[in-house]
Amino acid sequence: MKKIEVISLVLDDSNRVEINLHGSTITSWISNKEERLFVSEKAIFDNKKAIRGGIPIVFPQFGPWDNNRPQHGFARTKKWKIKDEIKKTSQEVSVSLSLSDDEDTRKLWNYSFELIFEIRLTLNSLKNTLTVINKDSSDFDFTCLLHTYFKLPDIENFRIHDLKTAHFIDKVENGLEKVEQEDSIKIASEVDRVYTNCSKNHRLEISNKTQIILEKTNFPDTVLWNPWIEKATKMADFGSEEYKIMVCVEPGYVSKRLALKSNETFSASQKLTIFFFKFV
Ligand code: BG6
Repeated sequence: MKKIEVISLVLDDSNRVEINLHGSTITSWISNKEERLFVSEKAIFDNKKAIRGGIPIVFPQFGPWDNNRPQHGFARTKKWKIKDEIKKTSQEVSVSLSLSDDEDTRKLWNYSFELIFEIRLTLNSLKNTLTVINKDSSDFDFTCLLHTYFKLPDIENFRIHDLKTAHFIDKVENGLEKVEQEDSIKIASEVDRVYTNCSKNHRLEISNKTQIILEKTNFPDTVLWNPWIEKATKMADFGSEEYKIMVCVEPGYVSKRLALKSNETFSASQKLTIFFFKFV
């Protein structure tokens, strides 16, 4: 097996992040001494398959891709490079990684590009910014998303807020279009929804002690995913009981394609901030 290359961002004894260069996948976010991201016990680290958990990057295609090209694109399965070395102050630690087109990506998507992924850790927050630079002489279009797997003590107690009245595509019901009716969404069966042009912030009740505010910039959509029992047992790199301890809340630009002109740049980010008390 090839060497796994992992970068650590260490703010202090209680707050750190790990990033695997394979896919520039954030595989751990320890905040206040506790792991906040889910990575499956069955995740495969072979530098080929996408890592099942953490924050894989979806680009240039969300979901299935035509002509047998890989689901969710290639950014999550390519080896990224360090663009800007680790910078640290007493308040913050950050690093930037990048991915450029090569022979493999050109076989799948024949454009010249650079992706930059900046990871910024503070005492109570993790910010991730994805930048797409069109280095081609032609315009191109794409979809992209941060496939964030949150670790939960128990899915029973998880709730997501701030989606009431949002339109969504229900992938569990063959793409039926619906409008969210709930103020506080609980997951108790398979969920695979693309909320389109929804609220910029979501409040996630992780447990009765912890909440995370997810703030999006330039990501109009949010995908909510939990495979539940049946799908879980069909996934080779996911434990059959693990659906109880994870949920994916994924900010993205996916319900329509983003057109980027030659030499133009697009940036979008998510900021996750932890609060250790119950909202009323
Ligand atoms: C979600 C999609 O973003 O990712 C789901 O909405 C998909 O449809 C899930 O099943 C996991 O995808 P993958 O390729 O990592 O198994």
